[in-house]
Amino acid sequence: MAPRPIASQPEPSAAVARFFKRQPKLFIGGDWVEPKSNERISVVDPATGREIAQVADANAADVDRAVAAARAAFDKGPWAEMLPVDREALLWKLSDLIEKNLDELAEIESLNNGKTKFIAKIVDITEVRNYFRYMAGWATKIEGTTFQTSIHGPPGAKFHTYTAREPVGVVAQIIPWNFPLAMAAWKLGPALATGCTVVLKPAEQTPMTALRLADLIAEAGFPPGVVNILTGLGETTGAALVAHPGVDKVAFTGSTSVGKLINKSATDTLKRVSLELGGKSPVIVMPDADMSQVIGGAANAIFFNAGQVCCAGTRLFAHRKVFDQVVEGVSTAAQSIKLGPGLDPQTQMGPLVSREQQERVLGYIESGRREGAKVMTGGDAPASPGFYVKPTVLTSVRPDMKVVREEIFGPVLVAQRFEDLDDIAALANDTPFGLGASVWSKDISTVHRLVPKIRAGTVWVNCHNFVDPAMPFGGFKQSGFGREHGRAVIDLYTELKSVCIAV
Ligand code: NAI
Ligand code: MG
Repeated sequence: MAPRPIASQPEPSAAVARFFKRQPKLFIGGDWVEPKSNERISVVDPATGREIAQVADANAADVDRAVAAARAAFDKGPWAEMLPVDREALLWKLSDLIEKNLDELAEIESLNNGKTKFIAKIVDITEVRNYFRYMAGWATKIEGTTFQTSIHGPPGAKFHTYTAREPVGVVAQIIPWNFPLAMAAWKLGPALATGCTVVLKPAEQTPMTALRLADLIAEAGFPPGVVNILTGLGETTGAALVAHPGVDKVAFTGSTSVGKLINKSATDTLKRVSLELGGKSPVIVMPDADMSQVIGGAANAIFFNAGQVCCAGTRLFAHRKVFDQVVEGVSTAAQSIKLGPGLDPQTQMGPLVSREQQERVLGYIESGRREGAKVMTGGDAPASPGFYVKPTVLTSVRPDMKVVREEIFGPVLVAQRFEDLDDIAALANDTPFGLGASVWSKDISTVHRLVPKIRAGTVWVNCHNFVDPAMPFGGFKQSGFGREHGRAVIDLYTELKSVCIAV
């Protein structure tokens, strides 16, 4: 096929261009404050490779200030005393402001992350709005229990015993660049519903929507210090937050290697830690599956968000009876995807987030080739200054290859054929990760027999990658611990207190 040229990025709106020109500041104690650090981070449009903004690289002194503001807001003042129903109202107000600014937030997200504005609008920012609404409801529904005890007290003694859930305290939240504002919402929603206070650090590649969110948090009327937002690198701002004695809990989404570092560092002060880490999720296609669903579904499982999805369906296992049909179908779908800049309405897949990520993904494809994988489609980058990688399908792979074992985090599918239905759970589980999986079959017994054997936090059936604020999300094995969303996340942001009263 003749190479299709990559279109150029349309000009941003005047409002967004103005926003990008703002002087780098930090959001601490309800105000935009000058950073103590003189270091700056260049923020780049991944479709062009050009700088669009500069932000501060907050240092340890900036972290001290932000943690002090969060500590003060937690320990005393209006937030500590606020009725749950008023926290709920603030979260709703924030969600309304997100809705009001949906178009602008989607444009900022697109320019900063590379995803299309269309997807940013209908998926990312809409989910952010809905997430705050869902979590708003939890503010008024946090419960403990009463229970009977058999305590041997003095004769005639009676006890009244119950539990209460209380906010865990000051939470440091460190998030990645693949769904920048949605990750901020997943973190902030439960923290604010439960009455915690927060220092949030967006990823250095994609800080822009979090900074715009700070404006909206102030506009919604959250008391000063409840949410503080620091831009900065992982090694500076992130590491200082994790080590800080004034932080009670760290919530992290990102790579498994950094998750391990964070868990070690947090051990020194025994902070609570929740980790949502990498994945290598299998897509299992049974011979009886509905092929009209499977091909689009498997393509979307890996190519959505250019494969920069922690639960992306990266390892395709198709039964030998349908393997060729699935691989051909997904490869054809891959070829038809139009790459381009996010603000171009024709674009179906944007660039990867950074030069570094583009090089990492191309390096994986190269290592696959070297180890004997066959490139069915894609396999390289189109000519462009942007950080694009063509949607790629690899076959002839073996379970020990790097491309099969490691998280690639790009639009690269590795496809394997299986023979025996009894082997498939072991093949699917042959990974250090356990975030997601999907099973494609019309047979209810096949599905129900397989689902319990899959070691993953979410198993989708005849679909993949769907998430919902009500549906717990998180990993088995090295995909992390703790579950976000639903009732489960309330436990992550609260301490359980037992009260024993001799009456
Ligand atoms: P990363 O894990 O280094 O970055 C994620 C966040 O952690 C960012 O905010 C970063 O500033 C922060 N961070 C980095 N080092 C830190 C440290 N020592 N202490 C505290 N915070 C720190 O991920 P990176 O380097 O951007 O991407 C590398 C690979 O990680 C990707 O190729 C992908 O495989 C995986 N990844 C997985 C994600 C997921 O959602 N599971 C999201 C992003 C990356
Ligand atoms: Mg890193």
